[in-house]
Amino acid sequence: MHGYPKHMKIFVIISLLLLNTVYAAGDPIVGKTKAIHCISCHTIDGNSKIPIYPKLAGQHELYLIKIMKDYRDKVRDVPTMYTIAKKYFNDDNDIEDLAAHFASQKSDICIQQPQTPQVKAGRRKIESCAVCHEPDGNSTLPFFPKLAGQHKTYLIKAMQAYKNGSRQESQMSQMALLFSDDTDIENIAAYFAAQKSNTCK
Ligand code: HEC
Ligand code: HEC
Repeated sequence: MHGYPKHMKIFVIISLLLLNTVYAAGDPIVGKTKAIHCISCHTIDGNSKIPIYPKLAGQHELYLIKIMKDYRDKVRDVPTMYTIAKKYFNDDNDIEDLAAHFASQKSDICIQQPQTPQVKAGRRKIESCAVCHEPDGNSTLPFFPKLAGQHKTYLIKAMQAYKNGSRQESQMSQMALLFSDDTDIENIAAYFAAQKSNTCK
């Protein structure tokens, strides 16, 4: 998205600043005790080992909160997480505590992963993503998820879901129109998965 309007970005930043002032943070210590129900798929620190389960460690807190509510309200309609949400996401305090816990954890992708041909091909395709996710996937604005060091398999699945419409969100559904084919999606996913997370230091 060459020339993504600057005033839009400023508008987003101002809205987020306003939102932050009314936002009550969850408790990461309490959140850790609640995260016992997430271990089997995401592990206790959110560095999931199984590539279909997204890493949550170091993800933006506000993004995690939004998505947990989206699973609960079927805005993001995924049976696995809906089952979890029905049990554990009824109370907004629980959601906020869980988000505070996972957001406070460090990613385990702390060094740049190998520059395979696929990673290099992906690098050439991410210009339009960088305005929101940053060139290295360590997005700075809290509603834009970090992609750096995320599992490649999960990133592919997420991008395909935006493209085929099974996951809908106004900004990403628009962006998904730019994914030309599966090779494109796989290359971009490989690129972001290979970037080191900025949560390690
Ligand atoms: C049975 C496995 C399983 C368990 C247990 C589980 N999850 Fe998940 N989780 C998934 C899968 C699969 C996805 C990806 C779903 C999708 O495609 O949107 C996911 C996605 C997520 C996401 C979205 C991440 C992103 O980058 O968008 C959050 C947040 C999340 N889970 C939180 C939790 C929390 C908190 C718990 C514990 C209360 C939990 N999950 C338990 C399987 C699980
Ligand atoms: C205008 C801002 C914006 C741009 C540009 C953008 N994204 Fe996103 N992206 C978002 C938002 C917002 C979300 C969360 C959407 C949701 O709620 O499902 C997201 C989510 C994602 C996710 C899912 C992450 C997860 O943890 O589930 C992937 C993968 C992704 N974007 C890839 C890309 C790629 C690749 C590009 C470039 C082709 C791109 N995005 C461009 C705003 C943007």
